[in-house]
Amino acid sequence: MRIDIVTIFPAFFDVLEVSLLGKARNAGLLDVRVHDLRDWTGDRHRTVDDTPYGGGAGMVMTPEPWGRALDAVVPGAVTATGERPVIVFPSPAGTPFTQAIARELSGRERLVFGCGRYEGIDERVFDYAATLGEVRLISLGDYVLNGGEVAAMAMVEAIGRLVPGVVGNPDSLVEESHEDGLLEYPSYTKPATWRGRDVPPVLLSGNHGAIAAWRREQQLERTRARRPDLLS
Ligand code: ADE
Repeated sequence: MRIDIVTIFPAFFDVLEVSLLGKARNAGLLDVRVHDLRDWTGDRHRTVDDTPYGGGAGMVMTPEPWGRALDAVVPGAVTATGERPVIVFPSPAGTPFTQAIARELSGRERLVFGCGRYEGIDERVFDYAATLGEVRLISLGDYVLNGGEVAAMAMVEAIGRLVPGVVGNPDSLVEESHEDGLLEYPSYTKPATWRGRDVPPVLLSGNHGAIAAWRREQQLERTRARRPDLLS
C-alpha cells in the first residue's frame, strides 16, 4: 500500500520510522511518503493561508498550494489496477473514523492524506480533489485538534496495522475491541496471583468452551457499562 501525506509539518510524521509501522515500511509492505505543502507555494514567504471571505476568526488554507500538491501527489484518476485513489482530509466536521473504515481503507492501494491547519481548507479544494480520487472527510472524534496531523497519524496506524503482513500474527487482529462490534475481553498473564489479585479461575481451567463463554460475557458486560451506544 502506498500512502502520501501532505502537511505543513512533515516532522510530525518522523515517528512513522519507529515501531511496527517502521518495520512494515522497511519490509516494503507500506510505502509512506510525506510531503511539505509549502513546496507548492509560489511566494517568498511560502504562504498557505489567508483571511476568510465573509469575515470571522482565524485563517483559511488557500486553494492554490493544495491544488498543485494534489496534482503532483495523486496518481491521475486511477491506479495501475484501475482503482481510484482515496483522498482523506481529517476534519472535525467529517464522518467518524471507525474500525470498519480502517479495515475498508486497508484494502485500498493508494491513500492520500491532506492535513489542514488553522480554521480549515478552502471548501473548493474538496470539490477539486473529487475529480482526482474518492474524497473522504473523516473525524477522529468529537473534539477539536489543532490540525489534521495527529488524526492522520492515528488513521495511518489503525489502517497500516491491518495491511496483511504488518502485524505478525493475524489472529491477534481478530479478537480486538471493535472487530465484532464489542469491546475486547480482559487479558491476564503470569503470575496467577499478583499483589493479592488472582487471575479469574476459569482461565486456568483448560476448559476452552467455558473460557470462550466467560470472555463473551465479559465483552458484553464491559460494552454495556462503558459503551452502551455500541449495543443499540
Ligand atoms: N482536525 C482537527 N480536529 C480534528 C478531528 N477531531 N478529527 C480529524 N481531524 C481534525
